[in-house]
Amino acid sequence: MPHRRNVPKNQRRILAERLKELDCLYSISKISERKGLTLDGVIRRIVRVIPGAWQYPAIAGGRVRLEGKEYRTRRFVPGPWVQQSPIVVQGAVVGAVAVSYAEKRPERDEGPFLEEERNLINVIAQRLGEVIERRWSERRLVEYQEKLRSLAAELVQSEERERRRIAQALHDRIGQVLALANIKIGALLEASADPKLTRDLAAVRALVAESIAETRSLTYDLSPPILYELGFEAALDWLAEWIGQQYGVVVEIDGNGHGAPLSLQWRTTLFSAVRELLVNVAKHSGAKSAQVRLHRKGGMIGVSVADAGVGMDPARQGKGELEGFGLFSIRERLGSMGGEVSITSRRGKGTTVTLSVPVGKPETT
Ligand SMILES: Nc1ncnc2c1ncn2[C@@H]1O[C@H](COP(=O)(O)OP(=O)(O)OP(=O)(O)O)[C@@H](O)[C@H]1O
Ligand SMILES: [Mg+2]
Repeated sequence: MPHRRNVPKNQRRILAERLKELDCLYSISKISERKGLTLDGVIRRIVRVIPGAWQYPAIAGGRVRLEGKEYRTRRFVPGPWVQQSPIVVQGAVVGAVAVSYAEKRPERDEGPFLEEERNLINVIAQRLGEVIERRWSERRLVEYQEKLRSLAAELVQSEERERRRIAQALHDRIGQVLALANIKIGALLEASADPKLTRDLAAVRALVAESIAETRSLTYDLSPPILYELGFEAALDWLAEWIGQQYGVVVEIDGNGHGAPLSLQWRTTLFSAVRELLVNVAKHSGAKSAQVRLHRKGGMIGVSVADAGVGMDPARQGKGELEGFGLFSIRERLGSMGGEVSITSRRGKGTTVTLSVPVGKPETT
């Protein structure tokens, strides 16, 4: 027969108190781990479980102050019977947690409060500090990511602007000076009676003509005026030819956007994205041809670039990790403007990257 020991009454009371403390700390960890709660929500819930762990829960209230904000239970009374502990984050006091009694109770270790309650409130303040620090660093991370995203978008946009500026300068300044030189040489040639001079002038004119052709093709490479003058689909035809000449990859263009209205911003964004995707096909896929398909579904215009090459490493897809700047910037730029990018690829079976954007104006500039 097991020996039954009688637990003295005051020890039972002490045990019950410790149980309340454990319960309180357990609830605090549960709440702070709960997914989907904002920091506000976490603190509001934590403040409610604190008074229950004190000796006189019926007259106890809780309060948390954090950076000018206050969370308190109904029973909190900022009177003479308050016990509190500072909340510290990275060495700085950012707030405090407090427990109050609404009525007088016998004097104990710290006014009406017990030494155990002092220890408990300190532990609670420390836990709160940890929770707040974690949430703040998560928020900072998200802010950094957003900043990075808009920087990437801005970078692509300014690259496009710069390309256009240089193209224009090439065309307007150098191109026109060369054209003028060409005319002058023509006039000299006509006036020349000296066969040697005529021969030399003809050679110079050939050189000038070559420079004019080079300037023109450089201008196009940088920023095809077709994109601005004739629109996206005409520019794609030009791009297909350019990729063929530069990389030896045959580009087939299929379907059309049914004359869907694309704002200038979407046109330049999609154009530079398709150029990057086709350069990727040439650089990475090993395929000798690529297919560009335009389609329109509902309010969205889609452009896909497909190849039947080596395919991407599945571990790399969709996660953004190990991407170069090309895919990363396409994703960020389209994403920030309300568009989407999806990639399907299988080892040895090729890659298809689809860009979809809403018809009409992009969301942001
Ligand atoms: N069409 C493709 N076929 C096979 N692999 C590809 C294809 N496109 C991209 N990849 C893979 O995805 C990676 C990331 O492409 P991304 O364009 O982001 O960077 P990159 O082309 O390597 O460099 P960058 O574009 O910055 O010059 C590539 O390094 C390549 O391994
Ligand atoms: Mg690339």
